[in-house]
Amino acid sequence: MSAFRDGLFNGKSVFVAGGTSGINLGIAQRFAALGAKVGVIGRDPDRAARAAASIGEGALGLSADVRDYAATRAAMEQVAAAHGAFDVVVSGAAGNFLAPALNMSANAFKTVVDIDLNGTFNVFRGAHDLLNKPGASLIAITAGQAINASPLQAHACAAKAGINQLVRVLAMEWGPDVRVNGISPGPIENTEGMARLAPDAASRAAYYERIPMRRWGEIDEIAEAAVFLSSPSAGFITGTILDCDGGSQLGDASRQSLERGMG
Ligand code: NAP
Ligand code: COA
Repeated sequence: MSAFRDGLFNGKSVFVAGGTSGINLGIAQRFAALGAKVGVIGRDPDRAARAAASIGEGALGLSADVRDYAATRAAMEQVAAAHGAFDVVVSGAAGNFLAPALNMSANAFKTVVDIDLNGTFNVFRGAHDLLNKPGASLIAITAGQAINASPLQAHACAAKAGINQLVRVLAMEWGPDVRVNGISPGPIENTEGMARLAPDAASRAAYYERIPMRRWGEIDEIAEAAVFLSSPSAGFITGTILDCDGGSQLGDASRQSLERGMG
């Protein structure tokens, strides 16, 4: 169920990089439910096909690695040829694992930066001449690690911080025709990201306790934020990072922290 009106994206073309599972798939499904023609990419072709089937009739699910500019561009051309120039492009492909920097090889660090940051550049750069202009909406899926230094995540912190700045620069350069924004989800239940970053009951409990809203987020809530940012209601919003995180970005709101006054 969406708070936005039926048919809001009728006839619109939406492309979601990394849209074959989790939060990004939820975003793709929500745009489709509001009438959009949707194309998604991920690396695994079977997963991409299953995602397309779950999004609905006419959806396209293609295999492409966002680290590979030519492959990403080719997939975008295929989707644009079938659905028309893009009104919305979401860049959400990401990789993450917990490791201290000293346990990361140069390739381990590079892999995450390549997927998250360079991948977002590839998706947005590759999409630019396939966008419906004026009016197109670009959305990068970033994370709180862009702002908050998080031990064991040197790669993701660096990559997501880079994404936030890329959003701001592209919003300036592509200004009159294209809006460029980011969404920073908090901990979203039943996702791969949560399974990796809070892998056991103790880490989940500690994480949960810190969230001001005292609950996990839902995939639907990120999907609604993406719809809002791409709707006429957000027509003057560009270059912003929308925290959709139950207040997580504010700091530690655990009872202990609130009682002691330490954030
Ligand atoms: P997920 O289910 O693992 O989704 C990642 C998607 O990206 C999959 O469709 C994956 O498909 C695709 N992908 C990965 N590497 C790729 C590559 N090199 N090229 C193309 N596609 C690639 O993750 P999620 O937990 O839903 O997270 C989605 C986004 O939200 C990420 O940007 C993440 O950083 C952000 N986020 C998540 C949370 C959370 O609580 N989960 C919190 C903050 C931010 P393949 O594996 O088939 O390629
Ligand atoms: N600790 C330390 N290093 C690790 C690691 C870990 N837990 N997991 C992977 N690496 C290293 C590998 O050893 C390799 O480095 P090396 O060549 O020096 O040995 C490097 O990272 C790349 O690993 P590889 O498995 O070849 O990469 P890939 O491109 O196949 O997969 C990942 C990318 C590693 C990010 C993988 O976890 C992935 O596909 N993730 C997508 C899903 C995801 O993370 N979702 C959550 C989003 S928030």
